[in-house]
Amino acid sequence: MTALTLSTSAAPGLRADAIVIGVAKGTASRAKDGLVLAPGAEAVDKAYDGGLAGVLETLGASGAEGEVTKLPAPAGFKAPLVVAVGLGTAPEKDAGYDGEALRKAAGAAARVLTGAKKAGFALPLADAADAGAVGEGVLLGAYVFDAYKETGKDAKARNGKAPLAEAVLLGGKPRDKAYKAAVERAVAVAEELNRARDLVNTPPNDLDPEAFAAIAQAAAKEHGIKVQVLDEKALTKGGYGGILGVGAGSASGPRLVKLSYTSSKAKKSLAFVGKGITYDSGGISLKPAGHNETMKCDMAGAAAVFAAVVAAARLGLEVNVTGWLALAENMPSGSATRPGDVLRMYSGKTVEVLNTDAEGRLVLADALWAASQEQPDAIVDVATLTGAMMLALGSRTFGIMANDDAFRTAVHEAAEEVGEPAWPMPLPEHLRKGMDSPVADIANMGERMGGGLVAGLFLREFVGEGIAWAHLDIAGPAFNESGPFGYTPKGGTGTAVRTLVRLAELTAAGDLG
Ligand code: BES
Ligand code: MN
Ligand code: ZN
Repeated sequence: MTALTLSTSAAPGLRADAIVIGVAKGTASRAKDGLVLAPGAEAVDKAYDGGLAGVLETLGASGAEGEVTKLPAPAGFKAPLVVAVGLGTAPEKDAGYDGEALRKAAGAAARVLTGAKKAGFALPLADAADAGAVGEGVLLGAYVFDAYKETGKDAKARNGKAPLAEAVLLGGKPRDKAYKAAVERAVAVAEELNRARDLVNTPPNDLDPEAFAAIAQAAAKEHGIKVQVLDEKALTKGGYGGILGVGAGSASGPRLVKLSYTSSKAKKSLAFVGKGITYDSGGISLKPAGHNETMKCDMAGAAAVFAAVVAAARLGLEVNVTGWLALAENMPSGSATRPGDVLRMYSGKTVEVLNTDAEGRLVLADALWAASQEQPDAIVDVATLTGAMMLALGSRTFGIMANDDAFRTAVHEAAEEVGEPAWPMPLPEHLRKGMDSPVADIANMGERMGGGLVAGLFLREFVGEGIAWAHLDIAGPAFNESGPFGYTPKGGTGTAVRTLVRLAELTAAGDLG
């Protein structure tokens, strides 16, 4: 990953491939219409005799979010190139730039600097939090997934370039505790988030449940996290009928991975539960062509949970966090679960499987019940659960459902704070009866309308009495099928990782529940 450092050096003296500055759209109330230079751009502007904004306007720059304008660095600069990146509308006088605007701009700049060795980021840094935001944006925007590309010098030219190797945050305070901590946090979170992206992008022939469990085991060992892997034998012995039923058709057996990070100073405990379908073909209720090409992303919830637990451990958060990865491959075969089968779940409830493509709720049900047995203060599950949630909220926003309105609001606020678009969704009681089954306690499908909410209601039945629970349906934002934007690449996005880490931080600080 890109190396990130803080530096007090001024832009002209930095030996690098480029200097990044920020530009914004002025507003009438901010004394000036048109292009506004953001703090940090002073040295470049001075070298242009105060005419930089005019030069950039001539080049077509408007300050719009994500816009990138390149121009040659002025004489006397040790870097050859200036990259001006748009921050969107400038803040009102005296107000600082919003963290998410900084993150997106830093990410967009890091993206155009793919292939470069070193860049100085002269973006506004009013405080340590800004340094954290810019750092996070750089590290997330610079992400490249090239594990399956030909390597070697000639191949690089054909297949794309390596991520920006080194980013220097100019105007940062390398000796200031708060700045150092903000950068360390950004590095830990971004590294783990990028690892979650790698897992999502890894093709399903190389990432089956066993391989995922092995990766989790290795990372847990490295970071002092306790890990327990239940294989098919252990799952059978324990009665995990949901996970076993979904994995029954695959040549690669299912796994339930439990990651336990504990802090001696913890007063609260959180459980994170992730849907980890390493490939979702739909099973016997096979998905039609056109609907399964991206289904390697169906383990994005488990990847997010894994990343968040490791990040919590790396940050030494004073909270106990248990991650549950419900891993299975959903395949059709002679041994696969059939529509019409009844599964006896880990909770003891029976489920009539009407559609084997509604598999996520089955593996999650067992993991939610397992998590509930430890009576955590709250449970959050993360899942690419329904196409219906994508229809409702689009491809960039995840839905939040919960059994507790205050907890749902807290989760939503945490998501907003870290820059992950999310929206609260209801769990209407009347939809429950659509899942009534003539043979079992519940069916795995209900009314078609409100399918995302129906799935949420199904999950609710497997959460232990009295435990606050929230469900994040990330089917939309987990996998970016269109072009990159801000600090979000094409493919796996790592969505929900930062919300989970923030929830762990808030819980550690006693600011949640
Ligand atoms: N993994 C899918 C949901 C999904 C769809 C995620 C598109 C990301 C992009 C899930 O397992 C599924 O197939 N859900 C079904 C449920 C239905 C059969 C009740 C759906 O949404 O169609
Ligand atoms: Mn499915
Ligand atoms: Zn699925």
